[in-house]
Amino acid sequence: MKKISFVDLKRQYRENKTEIDLAIKHVLDSTHFILGEEVEQFEKEFAEFIGVKYAVSVGSGLSALELGVRSLEIGQGDEVLVPVNTYIASASAVSLVGATPVLVDCLEDTFNIDAEKAEKLITEKTKAIMPVHLYGQVADMEKVLRLAKKHKLYVIEDACQAHGASIRSKMAGGFGIISAFSFYPGKNLGAYGDGGIVTTNNKTIVDKIRMFRNYGQKEKYKHLLLGGNSRLDNLQASILLVKLKKLRLWNAKRLENAKLYNKSLDDLPIITPKIFPNYNHTFHLYVIRVKDREKLMKYLSSAGIPTQMHYPIPIHLQPAYKELGYKKGDFPVAEKLASEILSLPMFPELKSSEIKYICQKIRDFYRG
Ligand SMILES: Cc1ncc(COP(=O)(O)O)c(C=O)c1O
Repeated sequence: MKKISFVDLKRQYRENKTEIDLAIKHVLDSTHFILGEEVEQFEKEFAEFIGVKYAVSVGSGLSALELGVRSLEIGQGDEVLVPVNTYIASASAVSLVGATPVLVDCLEDTFNIDAEKAEKLITEKTKAIMPVHLYGQVADMEKVLRLAKKHKLYVIEDACQAHGASIRSKMAGGFGIISAFSFYPGKNLGAYGDGGIVTTNNKTIVDKIRMFRNYGQKEKYKHLLLGGNSRLDNLQASILLVKLKKLRLWNAKRLENAKLYNKSLDDLPIITPKIFPNYNHTFHLYVIRVKDREKLMKYLSSAGIPTQMHYPIPIHLQPAYKELGYKKGDFPVAEKLASEILSLPMFPELKSSEIKYICQKIRDFYRG
């Protein structure tokens, strides 16, 4: 029996070992570990890649979101519109600054925030809307930006799953006043530990986040703000510098893999992800919709194929958010999707023979 990984980071490391090892060695030899040359260089190159003026690196994607929200002076008594079908961090970033996430249902065909439903939830307390570019597909930013302009809301992009994704040629991370990315190892651009970055065109925000991430210091031992410790380290930056150069190629491979999946699953009772014209979907995750999900998962697992669910429990049904007072049935689209979604193995180095094997096994399942 074949054994396939959900994400195999070893293949990528093996292919890039010489360059990565050299970059790590350079930092080790320099013994300059915190906020060094590599961090600055990476921030510069990442900002250029996204097409914004500034990028400030931090310790994680959650930190990027939290410090971003904080930099807009959003806090107690304020509300932020957040999709209900995202990773918990999108909402927790809002809660961590003392504000309230107001959850919004999603669109069935893109899994992304439903801007029309969001509009109905706007109150005088609403300060921002946080589109999450789920699975690597940019949310409908035309609608989100129009809504934000009409109601004077900040747009905070959660681009933690969308490095390099775009609409036409405009990249995720360049639409909002601030955007957050995660460099968790399995992301399209992943570090070898935790990491994150905020992108923006706003210098005031950059200055604030630079202080927030480093004890509120503007200069050493001069603390202008109350800040924490959330810094990308130089070792991670040196690895990310090597990997950033490959990101376009890796994203193109992911898209190729997704197209092969779509084609191979076309005639089965499965809803495959749509690839829309003008949208460059970077397939951080390849998510299908099926009935009989649990049975299919079990069947695939016994054939050596791991699958996952992103995410099985929408945020309004998470115990951590009990106090928000939502109940089952409040978000019908997200709840329906949560019961049907299934993530299949996806990474750039996944071979077409492996995809064909996975699809053959799914076919066997449906043939009984
Ligand atoms: C949509 C989304 N937002 C935020 C995060 C948080 O990123 P991190 O794990 O780097 O804190 C993640 C990470 O999985 C994510 O997928």
